[in-house]
Amino acid sequence: MERLQKIIAAAGIASRREAEKIILAGRVKVNSKVVNELGVKADPSRDKIIVDGKPLMAKTKSYYMFYKPRGVVTTMKDPEGRKCISDFVKGLGERVYPVGRLDYNTEGLLLLTNDGELAQKLTHPSYEIRKTYRVKVLGIVPLAKLDKLRMGVELEDGLTAPATVDLIGYDREREMTEFNITIHEGRNRQVRRMCDAIGFPVRDLQRTKMGPLALRGLGRGKVRELDDDEVQLLMKI
Ligand code: URA
Repeated sequence: MERLQKIIAAAGIASRREAEKIILAGRVKVNSKVVNELGVKADPSRDKIIVDGKPLMAKTKSYYMFYKPRGVVTTMKDPEGRKCISDFVKGLGERVYPVGRLDYNTEGLLLLTNDGELAQKLTHPSYEIRKTYRVKVLGIVPLAKLDKLRMGVELEDGLTAPATVDLIGYDREREMTEFNITIHEGRNRQVRRMCDAIGFPVRDLQRTKMGPLALRGLGRGKVRELDDDEVQLLMKI
């Protein structure tokens, strides 16, 4: 991150002093918002900086949201020939990679980017990114068992951290329970293993949120670029 006047000066548009005047005159936009005060910092490789209506530099980092369908492997290549991420991103015209992974049979929100630094941060446990899943399990789960999920269940790799669980409802005819669960750990098959641990196997698992991002509105198998506000929210993490 560098001061805006330094970035503008480095692009050869003006001296640093002149760049300050340009900023104060309201002629500069960062990610679609006018910046007319000094001291604001930006990242020229990520932020869209516009001076007098002209983009200062092309941004080089891209961020997409993908609705991974069930039956797709979270890799770019599958030696067994199963469907994988690359089957859905061919039209993007650039190489992007998944941030973290979803199981073969889990559907939902997956972030794709060519920003390796951000990808590493988002998947590192110390950042504790909150992820919300909509879960359907077989059986009518008693409220006390949902409390167990909230408080933590013992798995073979240790006790799970407290989780948020909101019951959506029971389908008594099909003997199913549906709920939302939010966790911030990223252990392998965590939600499935937590539900197994309370005796109710997962039938359907969908990630609906990841940090500040929500899947809302995106069709299954579809990819869309994050808008400027969403990228900013991600950067704040
Ligand atoms: N938890 C799971 O069990 N599977 C996933 O794909 C993600 C979280």
